[in-house]
Amino acid sequence: MFVKEIGVDLGSSSVSMYVRGRGIVLREPSLAVVDRASGELKAVGSDAEALLSRSAGSLAAIRPVRCGVITNAGMAERMIRAYLKKVLGGSPLKPDLLLCIPAGISEVSERTAKDTGMQAGARRVRLMQTPAAAALGAGLDIRRAAGSMVVDIGHGVCHAAVLALGSVVAFTTSLAAGEHFDAALMRWLRRKKNLLIGERSAEEIKRAIGCVLPREEPLSLPVRGRDLSSGFPRTCEITSVETQEAFLGTAEELIEAIRLVLEQTPPELVSDITRDGIRLTGGGSLLYGIDRLITEKTGICAYVAEDAADCTVLGLGAALEKGSASPGSAPHLLRRKLSKA
Ligand SMILES: Nc1ncnc2c1ncn2[C@@H]1O[C@H](COP(=O)(O)OP(=O)(O)OP(=O)(O)O)[C@@H](O)[C@H]1O
Ligand SMILES: [Mg+2]
Repeated sequence: MFVKEIGVDLGSSSVSMYVRGRGIVLREPSLAVVDRASGELKAVGSDAEALLSRSAGSLAAIRPVRCGVITNAGMAERMIRAYLKKVLGGSPLKPDLLLCIPAGISEVSERTAKDTGMQAGARRVRLMQTPAAAALGAGLDIRRAAGSMVVDIGHGVCHAAVLALGSVVAFTTSLAAGEHFDAALMRWLRRKKNLLIGERSAEEIKRAIGCVLPREEPLSLPVRGRDLSSGFPRTCEITSVETQEAFLGTAEELIEAIRLVLEQTPPELVSDITRDGIRLTGGGSLLYGIDRLITEKTGICAYVAEDAADCTVLGLGAALEKGSASPGSAPHLLRRKLSKA
């Protein structure tokens, strides 16, 4: 029996795990539900989602990771413990974990990440910066002397970074990510259509018809919410063109984050990026038109990476397969995925 080495992408909306030699074995919501009265943990992940949809307000949802950092260590620990149990089955051996953390976080947050992993049952915890993992997962060779740029648009946070010689040279961490787009849509519907909708509906609309540049064929959807004047349910129509208007401010924030990184980057590395383009990763990069918008605004070609939503965990996996957490590239192993543990 060997100690398992597991890469853990602890995201704001989902947790993914990669077991060395096996590939991705888990992708679950980054969510726990507790009983409001007793504080007892009832379920984590997709079980928690199912339970919440059936509870009549007696349960509280807790998202232990916000903006890429652990904000509820106790709950994060219990969630990771539950997922490790799922992945490892009954193995008595403690695993070694490789966790990703945003670039530039405080020593306290780093320590929290390590301690949380240890408390969740790890034998050893190593850390890797998210932009390095995302870039590796996107197939970039970040060890080379030339500059590479990756923009990871997640749910709670967007990491824009330039890497060279295996390190992060410049970065920004911004809120211009999935959750922020959802909130913008909710605000827009409140203001323009006097309609209150929930976060889940906003996310569904964003995925189905949302865009930051016009779609070839405009789309529309009926949206059901609560009329703010009457207090009664009401259904109205929303079009893709309207989502573009709602997303404008957040899209501008995203472009500004990219501009700030380029501004901090030495000119010779900027010219490498201009030649090679910007790689987009994270689920948020799947928002329609985001690659073309970044290309238009920056003048640098932006491409959505293959398996964009899995790039970070694939990058952690690549580092594990190489036998070290130090950045490198292992493109031949990157796409190795398993659908079940
Ligand atoms: N097709 C799509 N169109 C638009 N947005 C999408 C699409 N698919 C996924 N998303 C968004 O991607 C986000 C989730 O991305 P991801 O899984 O990379 O986040 P995360 O890693 O959990 O969060 P973070 O990195 O911020 O901690 C959600 O906001 C989701 O709505
Ligand atoms: Mg992420």
